[in-house]
Amino acid sequence: MNHIESFYDDEELVITERFFRDGYVVEKVEDSSALNAVRSHIVSIVCEQLGCKMPHDEDGFLNEIHERLPVEQLNDVRMQTYRNMNESSWFRPTYFKLASKTLQTLVGNELAMQNKINLSIQYPQDESSLLGIHSDSFGGETPFQSVCWLPLVDCMRTKSMYILPPKKNQETLRNLSTVKEGGMAAIYEKVKKDLIFLDVPYGSVLVFSPNLLHGNTVNAELGTRWSMNCRFTGLFTPYRGQEKKLGAFYLPITAKPVTRLGMNFRYPEGFDN
Ligand SMILES: [Fe+2]
Repeated sequence: MNHIESFYDDEELVITERFFRDGYVVEKVEDSSALNAVRSHIVSIVCEQLGCKMPHDEDGFLNEIHERLPVEQLNDVRMQTYRNMNESSWFRPTYFKLASKTLQTLVGNELAMQNKINLSIQYPQDESSLLGIHSDSFGGETPFQSVCWLPLVDCMRTKSMYILPPKKNQETLRNLSTVKEGGMAAIYEKVKKDLIFLDVPYGSVLVFSPNLLHGNTVNAELGTRWSMNCRFTGLFTPYRGQEKKLGAFYLPITAKPVTRLGMNFRYPEGFDN
């Protein structure tokens, strides 16, 4: 008889080990035509607002958007794009499809997904849309989550985001009381030499643990950064705070039949002990 010694298969073990070691994985998207549909949808929403025709070169259009849209109007266009993209019923399932296997391996097969997908746009040299170093779980987010971060253009070096690797992160959090008086800026100074910028080319997706310290800095590359992000958590993990609870901030997406039967089961009177 063939004895099986692990509940995980080999592929799962490899990606699990990488995630524990680095705090993230970068994987090829699982459906490149779905990715292209996502990008084209964003470009079309932006073109509608700018009153221009759909470009042949979507990558060039996004990378060079700072040459046609003044930075003062950027946030309005971003917010309108965010609203429009989240209105399409296909948008969240398509986004999930880009990394479904990775998310199922790292997070679970019964999942809850953030109700809205976020959109970030960062112009080269612009200091007005920075996200300083932080851990999402400091701000009331559940620590039982991962973020699925999707670039719409190649995001390399400072055009991407940084993360503090797990070992350094653990050390830093253990000694947090010694630097916390200077706030997050002091923490950034202390760990900046250990931060890793994640290269995430178009066609791939980054899944990371936002429990680790992370953020971005001034984009010193030539092109504009376009990225989306969305949180995933196991359906039955604890939720923190009223704002971030299941049914509002998170919605169930892959509940299994037995779970659904169990949730709908009602004990007959006299058997409900
Ligand atoms: Fe974050």
